Amino acid sequence: MLTRRRFLKLAGFAALLGAGYPVVEARMVRVTRVDIDLGLGIKAVHITDTHFSTSVFSPEGVVATVEELRPGIIFHTGDLLTFRRGLEEAREFISALSEIAPVYLVPGNHDHWSGVGGKGLKKELGSGARVLLNEAVRIGDLAIAGVDDPYTGRADLERALRGTGDAGARLLLAHSPQIIGEAAQQVELVLAGHTHGGQVRLPRKGALWLPLPREYWRFDYGLFSVGGTRLFVSRGVGTGYLPVRLNCPPEIVALSL
Ligand SMILES: [Fe+2]
Repeated sequence: MLTRRRFLKLAGFAALLGAGYPVVEARMVRVTRVDIDLGLGIKAVHITDTHFSTSVFSPEGVVATVEELRPGIIFHTGDLLTFRRGLEEAREFISALSEIAPVYLVPGNHDHWSGVGGKGLKKELGSGARVLLNEAVRIGDLAIAGVDDPYTGRADLERALRGTGDAGARLLLAHSPQIIGEAAQQVELVLAGHTHGGQVRLPRKGALWLPLPREYWRFDYGLFSVGGTRLFVSRGVGTGYLPVRLNCPPEIVALSL
């Protein structure tokens, strides 16, 4: 039965939609602080799903916020672009970030669907970012591995982790959180995006839909622990084809590792 309270709630929800609030929320970038505490003493920033050419956030605003956070390293977990026409803006954005700290990036499904692809991103971004395509790099005791997009079946985790066995800590960048099915117990931390937190979330119900195989729907947003491996899934900073968000504001993640 539709109680008065429920009716008022629904009316309020409809009024928000009618007033175009979801378009406004899509521009309201927040900083989320996450303490992973791997004992590395590294301050990092995690950005994901910038979706250049279909997003409505301010790239200059995001760069300014990242600068204020003074990270030692910046991670981008894919969907840099929605369409190829966003490439120039994406390049400028990554270049500005790289002046703050080294940038490590993995491709997402939309980077592939845009026609640019993983190798294309590597070429287009040049020295602006280190694009990790099923490979790893070492920074002292830390191994940073990155897989190509798991959602479109391009991830090769075994290859990405090759030669990292003696690292003190292993961090994995992957666009889609579904990589946790393979990565649990293999690395200390996985950073992912892809879900956008659902972009539109209803009170109590959560995300309406997620672009994930059903068994991974619980990894919609936030920090999880699977077999001792921590997984952080960010809501991302941009929006895909529809520039709207509800109860799911865009975020920049400030990590302490
Ligand atoms: Fe995305």
